[in-house]
Amino acid sequence: MFRNITVNAVRRWPTALPRGRAVASLASLPETHQMLQKTCRDFAEAELKPLAAKFDREHLYPEEQVRTMGELGLMAMAVPAEQGGAGLDYLAYAVALEEISRGCASTGVIMSVNNSLYLGPLQAFGTPRQQERFLRPFVAGRRVGCFALSEPENGSDAGAASTTAKHGSDGSWLLNGTKSWITNGFESEAAIVFATTDKSKKHKGISAFIVPKPATGLSLGKKEDKLGIRASSTCNLILEDCSIPGDHLLGQPGLGFKIAMKTLDAGRIGIAAQALGIGRAALDCAVEYAGKRVAFGKPIIKLQAIQGKIAEMATRLDAARLLTWRAAVLKDGGQSFTKEAAMAKLMASEAATFIAHQAIQVLGGMGYVSDMPAERHYRDARITEIYEGTSEIQRLVIAANVAKEYGLD
Ligand code: CAA
Repeated sequence: MFRNITVNAVRRWPTALPRGRAVASLASLPETHQMLQKTCRDFAEAELKPLAAKFDREHLYPEEQVRTMGELGLMAMAVPAEQGGAGLDYLAYAVALEEISRGCASTGVIMSVNNSLYLGPLQAFGTPRQQERFLRPFVAGRRVGCFALSEPENGSDAGAASTTAKHGSDGSWLLNGTKSWITNGFESEAAIVFATTDKSKKHKGISAFIVPKPATGLSLGKKEDKLGIRASSTCNLILEDCSIPGDHLLGQPGLGFKIAMKTLDAGRIGIAAQALGIGRAALDCAVEYAGKRVAFGKPIIKLQAIQGKIAEMATRLDAARLLTWRAAVLKDGGQSFTKEAAMAKLMASEAATFIAHQAIQVLGGMGYVSDMPAERHYRDARITEIYEGTSEIQRLVIAANVAKEYGLD
């Protein structure tokens, strides 16, 4: 019943939304976005939240839920409706991803990687032929893609990529190297892979390639056993003379690093939104518990020590949300948003970690055991400070852009 109503509702959204429109007030979302928020909240409440602990405990990929999200348009939110996507903007994406992550943080990152890191660069740099083959089939939640930039020897220093790409005798590309920490690595049916054709050129030697899965010479490493977001898979992609056709180069040769950076600018809005969802879930858990738990003769939410925590948690969450929506609105308006996306991710990920930490403090012993979700939120929050650029890298990006604004670059 729920699905029929919401699928129909979502199908009405796309064309109603003017792209890049300035949001009059970040305090009140446009009506379309409010509808989307409610639909995603209802979906997350009914179909993600009750199962999130099981997914986490058993490392279960939420296949059925991702498929439903595909039907709802959530797996390709910014892809135009003509190509099978929802045709919505990045503000809508941030709003939806927060709600999904509030229900299940792992499902949030699966959605985020497919939308921002896989479909994003294909949409921006893919040829019509590449889009037909590698974008269209990945919009409906039946297939997901992944993004392979990091390597065992370099994560933050993305320009130091040592995976190589060489032309084979028949015009194909031969890729060699290992890509690590690949979210959606197990389930994905294609990857955007970054490799260098000339390491002496540093970042200018890097190109982007579309690697279908399976492919000759491509194998997967072990599934990583992670602290959090355990329902999403993470593994290495091992490329040993991995052969792909010559026309699987994405964008111009040597443009790979810039493709990666632009992709990550948008991806960071997604991770900020994921962090908001985790922070919100932790706040929900703390407030609900504090309303029921009695100590010193009253519910602990009436105690100043607890009120101080709740106030700090709610304020940091709202501040992070405003930064996230601002970055999305700038992107939707075609303005520069690199610094703002980094600020949003930095603030939201650190807020999520703080809020999840404080939620455990509010719950006391009950926060430390898996009977309650607080410990899972704490584990899930931690990665948002690491992937798609650590907090340290976000600070570098922000400072570099501030220096530029002062003419000091
Ligand atoms: N947009 C467009 N171009 C950009 C850019 C951006 N945001 N940032 C940098 N560039 C360009 C620069 O203008 C420069 O161009 P020119 O050569 O024409 O001058 C070029 O790229 C090199 O720039 P820098 O000198 O600033 O590059 P750098 O080597 O010092 O690195 C960095 C900059 C910010 C540290 C970058 O390496 C970085 O972002 N590192 C973090 C990598 C990261 O986020 N990895 C995440 C992995 S993916 C993941 O986590 C997915 C997942 O599982 C969920």
